[in-house]
Amino acid sequence: MTRVISAIALAACLPGVLALPRNTPKILKSAGQQKRADLPSPEERTQAVIDTFRTAWAGYEEYAFPNDELKPVTNGFSNSRNKWGASAVDALSTALVMGQKDIVNTIIDYIPTINYFETPSEVSLFETTIRYLGGMLSGYDFLTGPLADLADNKTNVEQLLKQSENLANAMSFAFETESGVPYNGLNFADRSTDGGPNGLATTGTLVLEWVRLSDLSGNKTYAELTEKAESYLLNPQPASSEPWPGLVGTNIDPTTGKFLDASGGWVGGTDSFYEYLIKMYVYDPERYAQYKERWVLAVDSTIEHLTSHPASRPDLTFVAMYNGQNLRLISQHLACFDGGNFILGGLVLGEQKYVDYGLELVEGCHETYIATATGIGPETFGWNEKSVPSDQSTLFNKSGFYITDGGYQLRPEVIESFYYAYRATGDVKYQEWAWDAFLTINETTRVGSGYSSIRDVNVEGGGGFTDFQESFWFAEVLKYSYLIHAPEAEWQIGKDGKNAWVFNTEAHPFKIFGSK
Ligand SMILES: *[C@@H]1O[C@H](CO)[C@@H](O)[C@H](O)[C@H]1NC(C)=O
Ligand SMILES: *[C@@H]1O[C@H](CO)[C@@H](O)[C@H](O)[C@H]1NC(C)=O
Ligand SMILES: *[C@@H]1O[C@H](CO)[C@@H](O)[C@H](O)[C@H]1NC(C)=O
Ligand SMILES: *[C@@H]1O[C@H](CO)[C@@H](O)[C@H](O)[C@H]1NC(C)=O
Repeated sequence: MTRVISAIALAACLPGVLALPRNTPKILKSAGQQKRADLPSPEERTQAVIDTFRTAWAGYEEYAFPNDELKPVTNGFSNSRNKWGASAVDALSTALVMGQKDIVNTIIDYIPTINYFETPSEVSLFETTIRYLGGMLSGYDFLTGPLADLADNKTNVEQLLKQSENLANAMSFAFETESGVPYNGLNFADRSTDGGPNGLATTGTLVLEWVRLSDLSGNKTYAELTEKAESYLLNPQPASSEPWPGLVGTNIDPTTGKFLDASGGWVGGTDSFYEYLIKMYVYDPERYAQYKERWVLAVDSTIEHLTSHPASRPDLTFVAMYNGQNLRLISQHLACFDGGNFILGGLVLGEQKYVDYGLELVEGCHETYIATATGIGPETFGWNEKSVPSDQSTLFNKSGFYITDGGYQLRPEVIESFYYAYRATGDVKYQEWAWDAFLTINETTRVGSGYSSIRDVNVEGGGGFTDFQESFWFAEVLKYSYLIHAPEAEWQIGKDGKNAWVFNTEAHPFKIFGSK
């Protein structure tokens, strides 16, 4: 999933800005040794992930539901997502694929009671779309399809679609701009907005959800609004905002629809725009052929111009950021979805070179996990050999990167890409990596009534808790951790490039257009 990273946060990942003292990293045993014989059966692994899901849900249900998030250390709650019960809506599609009927029914009993027209805080068009619209539409697709038996009350199932329309209707004034590029920050009380500019990811990660809503409801307006906005991203102006074919800038002016800069990459703030180019083609290759063409341009330019190998570990591949044609040798946990996205596109287009490149990116992100004291990868990292913090020279020499922000916010992207790598290759190595990651995340982030973000992946025990359990812990981390070990099902990614479902950026699976 993408998250919007502010300019200030991006500055913090510049090499050398954060050079806090760090423990000497303890290098874990490399993959392939000893543990493999102890790998539990797939049934034991899926059950362990379900147990963790139920533990996290129980804490949330007892202390936070129907608020947005659990604060597990203090048994409190928070409402960072408009007080509509973000964790519950985000948990629905995971409870469904895991077959947790009691939790499914608790959530769908609740969703009809949400008033999406009122909220105490500013609404992010993007965050609301990917979590709430995504969660409800996925629930609707499952409960009117292969998992219909899990719903006790059919009226609740119909309400998932009705509430999706209500929410989209409440937000649609965002698109009332001169260009049709929406504002992202919305105030429902007086229908005012943040005034822009809007970002590439926040503008370009709406179309899958709003198109699905049109196709399910029959109201074409949702698709038209988001396709119009997307048209400015597919035909970027001015030309200077596209430093290489398909790779574009970050900020867009909703008045003109023009880009305001030429910097970007596959990182937070831009990432899921690229992700959705190929996913729209997966959703409907007839309507979204142009999106696929733009994805191909972007990945070809990425391979040619952004590929970077750390001087100390030339065997590893990372994708650089750019400002114009100048590269910045920094990346993020968020960017680690890229391996999975290259693999998906390679499978669907029958282009092995994209699968192979994606697998290289998966190796690089895996390295950021196994090199730290906890076995969890950092929020941001760099590999510019001229900017290695002196206390991280050992880490850089051995593992090819140094840490610029050591936090871990219960993010899914590395395990998400392990999932695509496993589905494409069938190589159990990726299941082992996902299991190792799950075990250490389960142990390190477990606290109080749930699981919390931690402060430093490179300190034994994680360096302290921030007392916050993200809603995407339910939607994404636990879903991919489960699916990689789970039996074949129509919603699993197809090795042959044929899929019946496509996952939105919050890991909510949607039925592909026209699939039975
Ligand atoms: C089913 O759900 C609807 C709301 O979606 C509710 O009004 C109704 O009472 C529920 N029926 C039962 C039998 O619980
Ligand atoms: C279709 O969606 C638009 C955009 O939210 C809304 O204004 C309109 O009322 C909807 N039409 C119907 C028939 O519900
Ligand atoms: C890391 O490698 C560089 C270049 O080879 C070397 O100068 C430096 O001493 C090494 N640092 C450590 C801690 O080994
Ligand atoms: C996950 O963490 C819980 C709580 O600490 C623990 O009981 C459980 O055994 C862990 N799961 C695995 C598979 O280690």
